[in-house]
Amino acid sequence: MSREWTKEERYKVFTDESEIAPLYDKIKDSPYRQKYHIMPVTGLLNDPNGFIYMGGLWHLFYQWCPWGAVHGLKHWYHLVSTDLAHWENVGLCVKPDTDYDNKGVYSGSGFAYDDRYYIFYTGNHRDEDWTRRPYTCAAEITMANTARKLDKPLIKPNPDYTDNVRDPKIVYNEELKKYFIFLGAQTKDKKGRIIAYSSKDILGKYDFAGELKVEGYEDFGEMWECPSVERIDGKDVLIFCPQNIHLPNSGDAKDHNGYVVGDLDYEMLTFKPAGHFHVLDEGFDFYAAQCAANSDRKILSAWMGLPDSEYPTDDEDWSGCLTLPRELHVKGSRLTQAPVVELAGLRHHAVDATKETLPDGAELVIDTDGKDFALRLLSDEDGKGGILFTYDARKKSLTFDRSGLSQKLNEQYGNVRTHTAVSAVTRLRVFIDRSSVEIFVNDGDEVFTSRLFPRENEHHFHFDGKGEIKLFSLIHGVKEEFKI
Ligand code: FRU
Repeated sequence: MSREWTKEERYKVFTDESEIAPLYDKIKDSPYRQKYHIMPVTGLLNDPNGFIYMGGLWHLFYQWCPWGAVHGLKHWYHLVSTDLAHWENVGLCVKPDTDYDNKGVYSGSGFAYDDRYYIFYTGNHRDEDWTRRPYTCAAEITMANTARKLDKPLIKPNPDYTDNVRDPKIVYNEELKKYFIFLGAQTKDKKGRIIAYSSKDILGKYDFAGELKVEGYEDFGEMWECPSVERIDGKDVLIFCPQNIHLPNSGDAKDHNGYVVGDLDYEMLTFKPAGHFHVLDEGFDFYAAQCAANSDRKILSAWMGLPDSEYPTDDEDWSGCLTLPRELHVKGSRLTQAPVVELAGLRHHAVDATKETLPDGAELVIDTDGKDFALRLLSDEDGKGGILFTYDARKKSLTFDRSGLSQKLNEQYGNVRTHTAVSAVTRLRVFIDRSSVEIFVNDGDEVFTSRLFPRENEHHFHFDGKGEIKLFSLIHGVKEEFKI
């Protein structure tokens, strides 16, 4: 698979676009470059970062290593959108150019304050002997797309935890009139935690407030990455990525991204679950979700990938993309995740579904009779290759089977995922891009998201079951553009 990278190659400092222009020319015509999903200009994309809504614009960054499909020196690359469907590249913004972030500007969140756009991120510092020291840093994003960094970090490494402390999420608590920064952390005996710091002023002095106590989750994975606390429909939702833990129904996957609905007491730093931990996505490639909100909506975006995974485009020196934005709601002790309504704006024209051929960039809408079905996607003309998505109505069981893919993927994490639907399945919305599929069940009760890399003749589908099928060809939502 992908080539070996030396430390020097991975952490080479990026100075200007001429260094990667040839790389962009090499990859831009790859058949797997996405049409309407955010993907890296070159190199590797992982987590979404600093996602906010401000002044009529959605701002989103991604973790970016310019050099190739490798986790090396991380930067923040910036995009904006007026409607969450059409995105424009703004360019590289936050660079590892201080001692505190000398080996990468790691993930973090954004906050709109007094018409100013602040970001909070992890400065991944390494000493000469490669000892890691994670700092929590802040910067203001200027109109000129530069990051005006504070002189000093807000939070220094915490000696009571390992060097796995990162991914600040900032939240303002109205009652206590305090800002809270939540960080993913690892105890010395390798247990995942969230720790909190608080301050009266957004860029003020942050004091250690303690560990967030999440009842029943004291021993739940080795490290919790990308924590988030969101207020949705009158409930608190704790979103995080527990690592190195096996969960029922998640095959052999070891890293997950999920949530617990409950109530957070900021004073006592206690989170009382009102239900179980659920994964956010039932598919194979989903991680590091992050949310942004405008007055009445909460929108999620995530990395359509996983740590320790390889993809066929690694050989082309690029990898990763973000999921489509989803609107979140709380239903009982679960979240629903519907594709944002604005995505209808990507529909170019309706396509005759009886031909069972997918256009380049497609959306399938299937209203079923609630009975069993089998949907084959991205197969060749004879039904070989691609994935098989089936529903057993009696058991309410949904199965996503990728064992038939002609280009196999990360088989160490298994090929089949089965999930019991929360309610009878009557509707599917399926978004198919050049190297991904997202299946929304009943408008978001559950979602199955996966990368896949079809061969040239693999663009057919077949629906076995009773239902009304609509098919649309979608436009380029994210412009393919080399902008640094
Ligand atoms: C999650 C993660 C974060 C970290 C970032 C580095 O995918 O490992 O914890 O900040 O990626 O790129």
